Amino acid sequence: MKKLLLSAILAFGIVTTANAEVGETHIEDFDFSFEGPFGKFDQYQLQRGLQVYTEVCSACHGLRQVAFRTLGDEGGPHLDYETVKAYAASNFEVYDAEKDEDRPAIPSDKFPESGLENAPDLSLMAKARAGFHGPNGLGINQIVKGMGGPEYIASVLTGYTGKEKEQAGTTFYENTAFPGGWIAMSPPLSDELVEYADGHNNDMYHIAEDVSAFLMWTAEPKMMARQRLGLISVVMLMVLGVLLYFSNKKLWRDIKRKS
Ligand code: HEC
Repeated sequence: MKKLLLSAILAFGIVTTANAEVGETHIEDFDFSFEGPFGKFDQYQLQRGLQVYTEVCSACHGLRQVAFRTLGDEGGPHLDYETVKAYAASNFEVYDAEKDEDRPAIPSDKFPESGLENAPDLSLMAKARAGFHGPNGLGINQIVKGMGGPEYIASVLTGYTGKEKEQAGTTFYENTAFPGGWIAMSPPLSDELVEYADGHNNDMYHIAEDVSAFLMWTAEPKMMARQRLGLISVVMLMVLGVLLYFSNKKLWRDIKRKS
């Protein structure tokens, strides 16, 4: 009994401290096209997100795990080869060890690393962070809503309150989604910051949504293939289950009738 009581108190303690740690942050539940078992990346959203990354985020953040050529992959932004080639060459330079100089990037290169020392690489960020922790830090919401990595990124991008403070020579900005409430990244987005060629809504909320979807793709480019495989496996198991049920019935039919 004592033991039970002790573990109950311990569990309560863990739950409440976990809650206190994450309780103050606010993660908005964005409605992404790739959620759910039938979800898909939206090719045009990924292209817009790539544009936002290129025009805004790439000034500080790298994507060093992502090769330019994958921008042409089906299920991703799906750009044609010539576009990828032109995009890489006109936007990024990479260091060529053989020539010992920088040259325009080619499709087989990877995106450069972060230009700003304290800005983390964003290649896997959407998988490295979880947006949903609740209820009470138990993480049960993750089963329903997913881990919430892209939601977390979009919430950080739109979570600035406008307050800032100076600490040890660094400016921190109050942010409702960032753990601790103060982030060293100045608000990178504002309404109409980028001009979309497809005429898509370019208020801050939608820009944040697009770039977060793009970062989900960079973190898990094969997500759709994996989900499709999972779905096929479930369907096959169900068919197999039905077959087994009827063969079982058939096999035992004569024996059961006799008794
Ligand atoms: C002016 C430079 C700058 C720009 C532009 C910028 N960031 Fe950041 N970003 C930072 C810095 C610095 C940090 C580290 C902040 C910290 O740890 O307090 C950061 C942190 C982050 C984080 C990590 C939060 C975490 O949980 O650790 C994410 C996600 C992020 N940025 C996304 C973006 C996206 C997406 C864009 C483009 C829309 C962008 N950033 C544009 C400088 C920048």
